[in-house]
Amino acid sequence: MEDVNIDENAPTPTPTTQVTEEEPVGLEDDADKIIKLLTRGIRERDIVSIFGIPGLEKTTLAKKIFKDSSIVSHFDVRAWVTISQSYDVRELLRIIYKQVTGNRIMLTTRLKHVAMEVKNCTNPYSPRFLTREASWKLLQEKAFQKETCPPELQDVGVQIAEYCKGLPLTVVLIGGILAKRKECLRVV
Ligand SMILES: Nc1ncnc2c1ncn2[C@@H]1O[C@H](COP(=O)(O)OP(=O)(O)OP(=O)(O)O)[C@@H](O)[C@H]1O
Ligand SMILES: [Mg+2]
Repeated sequence: MEDVNIDENAPTPTPTTQVTEEEPVGLEDDADKIIKLLTRGIRERDIVSIFGIPGLEKTTLAKKIFKDSSIVSHFDVRAWVTISQSYDVRELLRIIYKQVTGNRIMLTTRLKHVAMEVKNCTNPYSPRFLTREASWKLLQEKAFQKETCPPELQDVGVQIAEYCKGLPLTVVLIGGILAKRKECLRVV
């Protein structure tokens, strides 16, 4: 079955963060939980919301789940819709219902009250902040890509990862800056 691309003449969305095509770090547990919620056998239409502050990997998590083989094989049709902040949630849901006869919707939003408003069966889900280990792993990936972190930079690297307070967006941004200026790490 084919995926459905929905285009209802909505204004071009301007996502604030770009989700990487690389395999995301440390999302397996969150993804497994949500996949179970999406594929469990309840009859009612259900909306599984993922909410949280900007850069808390909501979209990254949703994308990983959307592409997961168990989701691909479970649903006949999948649709991915991106909307701008000014879009009317009720109108959006109406459009999706009209075009896709499915019964599971996964929604990401920064606003808890939006998640609460559309809640049907499943409680909204908020991704956890990254652990120290996951932050450091992600920082290394972004700063050193395929290379490994030189031993003399380990301590300062771990400290920088900690300063990011577990927010993936911060880790990714700082990792990107460090990748361009690896000398910075040597100077710190
Ligand atoms: N676990 C992860 N591994 C690798 N990169 C990640 C991970 N989580 C998030 N990122 C990266 O961090 C950035 C922010 O993530 P994302 O866009 O998913 O956040 P968001 O919660 O959807 O933010 P917004 O509220 O702006 O929509 C992206 O560049 C994404 O690729
Ligand atoms: Mg997002």
